[in-house]
Amino acid sequence: MRTFLSLEYAHDTALPADHDDEFRTPHALVERFLREYSEPGDRVLDPFAGFGTTLAVAERLDREGYGIEYDADRVEHARDAAGDAEVVHHGSVLDLDDTWVPACDVCFTSPPFMERTDTRNPFENYAGESTYDEYLEDIERAFSRVESVLAPGARVVLDVSNMKYEERVTTLAWDVADRVSNVLHYDGEVVVGWDAGTDRDHGDGTFGYGYDHSYCLTFTNATG
Ligand SMILES: C[S@@+](CC[C@H](N)C(=O)[O-])C[C@H]1O[C@@H](n2cnc3c(N)ncnc32)[C@H](O)[C@@H]1O
Repeated sequence: MRTFLSLEYAHDTALPADHDDEFRTPHALVERFLREYSEPGDRVLDPFAGFGTTLAVAERLDREGYGIEYDADRVEHARDAAGDAEVVHHGSVLDLDDTWVPACDVCFTSPPFMERTDTRNPFENYAGESTYDEYLEDIERAFSRVESVLAPGARVVLDVSNMKYEERVTTLAWDVADRVSNVLHYDGEVVVGWDAGTDRDHGDGTFGYGYDHSYCLTFTNATG
C-alpha cells in the first residue's frame, strides 16, 4: 500500500443530533484498510467502537464486526450501526478478555486522543484525572488486551494524529506508535491527507487536532 493517501473527510451517514460535533472516523478510511487487510468472512475488531463506523463498514463488506465501547450512549449507536446488539460489548478495553469477543483477524480503531497538558482521563471519557504519561501507559495496556484476542498474524491499524494546541505540539501519533510497539510488531505508517472544505474543517484546511493530515499506524500480531 502507498504510504500517502488523500481522502475526502466525509461520512456516509449523519451523526445523531445530540452528538453532531463529535469525532468519527470517515467510512472511506476504514474501507480502504479493511479491503487491504481482510477477506469476506473475517472477524474485525474495533476496541474503541464509538458510533460504530468500523462495524458498519465491516458489515457492508461481508466481514463480521465486533466492538467494545465505554460510553453507554455510544454503545447504543454502535449497536444500531452494526445491526446486531450482540456484537458490541459495553465496557473498558482495559478489562477486555476473550469471553467478550471471538478471536479476530484484523483490528481497525481510533483511540481517544489526549493533549499532553490536559489532566482529564480519555480512558474514562475525559471524566477522572490522568497525566499524559499515565495515558500512554493505558494505551500500552489496552493494546496488550487487544493482542490477547487477535489471531496470529492479525493486522492492526490505528487511526491517530499529532495535536497542535496553543503553538505547542503533542507528538501523540509517535508516542502511541512507540508504546504499542511494545506489544505488537510495528510495520509502519500511512499518512492520510484530508481534503478540506467539510464540516470539520476550521476554514484553513485543518481539523480539531490542528492538522490537515493524520496517520494510520500499522502493526502485526507476531505472537501465536
Ligand atoms: C476516537 S473515538 C472512536 C470513534 C470511532 N472510530 C467512530 O467512528 O465513531 C474513541 C472512542 O473510544 C471510547 N473509549 C474511551 N475510553 C474507552 C475505554 N476505556 N474502553 C473502550 N472504549 C473507550 C470513547 O467513548 C470513544 O467513543
